[in-house]
Amino acid sequence: MNDPRTRIVAEGYDEMGEHFAEWSGRIAGDPRRWWAEQLTSRLTDGARLLELGCGSGTSDTQLLAERFRVTGVDISREQIGRARSSVPDAVFVEADFSAPDFDPGTFEAVAAFYSFNHVPRELLAGLFGRIRSWLVPHGLFLVALGASETESWTGEWLGTTMFFSSFTPETNSRLLEEAAGFELLLDEVVTFLEPEGEATFQWVLARR
Ligand SMILES: C[S@@+](CC[C@H](N)C(=O)[O-])C[C@H]1O[C@@H](n2cnc3c(N)ncnc32)[C@H](O)[C@@H]1O
Repeated sequence: MNDPRTRIVAEGYDEMGEHFAEWSGRIAGDPRRWWAEQLTSRLTDGARLLELGCGSGTSDTQLLAERFRVTGVDISREQIGRARSSVPDAVFVEADFSAPDFDPGTFEAVAAFYSFNHVPRELLAGLFGRIRSWLVPHGLFLVALGASETESWTGEWLGTTMFFSSFTPETNSRLLEEAAGFELLLDEVVTFLEPEGEATFQWVLARR
């Protein structure tokens, strides 16, 4: 982990510990379950699923692990330790998900819930392309992306220091389609209520 921005993210989630899950539990109107179902309804039991930025093992990860062979990746040692305890049926890897390279065609699906707005945005196009290569032909990619024009933001968030970066939805969609070669099946901007106020993300279900 050489990028100082990525180190800020890892250290921030380490410091947050269980506070992040407690804070997430106070979000109202999170559409994540509906989106997860759009993915899972298109998969067969036993499919290999990679979750990027899995955090501490959410109820979505638990549900996914009941039907699929789940590999979760997270850069925070604290969060992934919790995930190993709460979802014993999945395999967890402590790593920067923009670094590892899985063999081509390793997964039927890749999912990322609210983790890509921590990736320096100039890395997104390359990361989308690598994710596409990890999928089998017609494999699926579900992602909740940051939706604001934010090149780089570092500051106080949930009692720690955090880094965020994102493109607009138009740029995200263009990178997924043109740079990475995905077909976009569903693509929507959704606003819901975090404890501090409104938050907007772009949800995309894409096919290789
Ligand atoms: C907002 S939390 C979301 C956690 C979980 N997906 C959820 O929905 O509750 C973002 C997670 O992504 C992880 N993360 C961010 N950037 C990462 C990276 N480059 N590699 C691996 N994990 C990363 C963080 O450590 C954190 O656990």
